[in-house]
Amino acid sequence: MTEKLRVDLSGAPQTMLATLYAKALDADLPNSVLHDTWARDVVARIDYDWSQTSMTPRNSPSVSLRSAHFDSWTRQFLAVHPRATVLHLGCGLDSRYFRIDPGPDVEWFDVDYPDVAALRTRLYPERAHHHVVATSVTDPGYLGDVPADRPTLVLGEGLTMYLEADDGLGLLRRVVGRFPSGELQFDAFNRLGIRSQWMNAVVRRSGSRLHWGIDGPHDILDAVPGTRLLAWVPVFESDAFSALPGAYRVVAATMNRIPGLRTMAQFHRYAFGRPA
Ligand SMILES: C[S@@+](CC[C@H](N)C(=O)[O-])C[C@H]1O[C@@H](n2cnc3c(N)ncnc32)[C@H](O)[C@@H]1O
Repeated sequence: MTEKLRVDLSGAPQTMLATLYAKALDADLPNSVLHDTWARDVVARIDYDWSQTSMTPRNSPSVSLRSAHFDSWTRQFLAVHPRATVLHLGCGLDSRYFRIDPGPDVEWFDVDYPDVAALRTRLYPERAHHHVVATSVTDPGYLGDVPADRPTLVLGEGLTMYLEADDGLGLLRRVVGRFPSGELQFDAFNRLGIRSQWMNAVVRRSGSRLHWGIDGPHDILDAVPGTRLLAWVPVFESDAFSALPGAYRVVAATMNRIPGLRTMAQFHRYAFGRPA
């Protein structure tokens, strides 16, 4: 039997162990949302006390639904732009590249801190058009090495809240300045979500801090010239909830009635550059 890989992370990088484990748990559910067998296999190869993640089969849909949502938006983008670049920022150990299995005209860059990128390289197989970049996403340097010759999807799932607002907005402005056209897709917490981060067990246990609260599309449209809104979806209103067991639908319906809670977590989608 091959020896398991010991993993010892703290702060924001540790949080990706929780999202990975949630997807692995989801894969074993009879009504799996994401069917992420890659996550299950990767979890099996890591030596870690997974009970520390606070993820259970019961709360795993909070993660798998979000990932399924961004898989769907990614597929939509690639259906329109089969020749494209994808920048998957704060990728953690997510298997999106393998779930989507894009064609040979897609250059895909998975970007995360060096500790996480090193784990990715050990745990996932190499593919010709798949690249792993070890850097902070807010470092201005790496974008210059990404080809700017095709429509570009910049996707950050579970990322924006870990960035300082100025750094996040600076990143989005650099993306819009460098690539000729494309989309920005990410999720966000509103300012109330940032203020109540003490309730978030994954964040608390990792010792990380959340910073950037986004209350709605105007926080982006006003600050990042050249962006056009394609979609803004408060998470509890997303279609995904309608497919879940009754208890989840009741929670979503309750959250939707309370201002502030309704937009606590949101999915954002913008176009930039030349219209397709
Ligand atoms: C909650 S996890 C989400 C991981 C993955 N996107 C998923 O959904 O499974 C947050 C990820 O963002 C990464 N991250 C946070 N801030 C970052 C930064 N400034 N540069 C690179 N990665 C960052 C963390 O290392 C971690 O992998």
